[in-house]
Amino acid sequence: MADDDYLDAIDYTKDTLDVEDFKEIRHAVKLQDVFRTYKFGKEEITALNGVSLVINQGDFVVVSGKSGSGKTTLLNIIGAIDLATSGRVFVMDVPINDYDESFRSTFRLDNTGFIFQSYNLVSTLTAVENVMFPMQLSSKNQSELRDDAIKLLEDIEMGHRLDHLPWQLSSGEQQRVAIARAMANDPAIILADEPTANLDGESGQMIRDLLAKLNEQGKTLIVMTHDEDIINRKGVRHFTMKNGELNQNV
Ligand SMILES: Nc1ncnc2c1ncn2[C@@H]1O[C@H](COP(=O)(O)OP(=O)(O)O)[C@@H](O)[C@H]1O
Ligand SMILES: [Mg+2]
Repeated sequence: MADDDYLDAIDYTKDTLDVEDFKEIRHAVKLQDVFRTYKFGKEEITALNGVSLVINQGDFVVVSGKSGSGKTTLLNIIGAIDLATSGRVFVMDVPINDYDESFRSTFRLDNTGFIFQSYNLVSTLTAVENVMFPMQLSSKNQSELRDDAIKLLEDIEMGHRLDHLPWQLSSGEQQRVAIARAMANDPAIILADEPTANLDGESGQMIRDLLAKLNEQGKTLIVMTHDEDIINRKGVRHFTMKNGELNQNV
């Protein structure tokens, strides 16, 4: 199957586009029987195997599971970075799998903030420039955007490192900049892929506290992690992935 054959398989008639439905967002995320298969030579890898999930706004969802179980694939599909092979993917009630890349990239910037295990800051940009980077669609001018970025960095106690390049920052500081960048467009949903895996105890604790604070402020958090301190946090909905299947822990 060619990479975009999935477009032919989508049943658009299932969407009753009643404007009433859009007055209030019902779910932050809704997945219905989502599969993601990769072609690898002659082999077909099923990275997601029929995942269904409903996440409400303000939920703190944590998914753990062995390496290779499908966590990153799931996060990338929710974040509109990757496309499901089949099934339906709604983010903020929008069926994002049904749209082209141009819509998806704008949607991604507006609605989701991504935090990665290895921070993924742009190495040639300073801390404040990294935070400004996702603000490209804003109608504000550069100086206003810079002020907004500085405010976000000050909120996470990084106001004293505005003009440092990533290599001039500690690991924990880089991840704090990445959190500020994830907040650049004030998205409803924060997605984090093993955000504390590369950090020492103290920096890890700071990142955990920042994530919890974002959730308290009403952000929906979806975190892939083995970090017991995140998994065991009060109010967290904990799921486990195994061979591409998702199960809720009770
Ligand atoms: N681009 C790709 N091409 C082929 N196989 C892939 C690709 N990305 C991931 N996989 C495979 O899909 C499975 C799930 O990967 P991943 O979602 O990265 O798992 P996790 O994040 O839990 O470690 C693994 O078996 C991995 O090898
Ligand atoms: Mg992964």
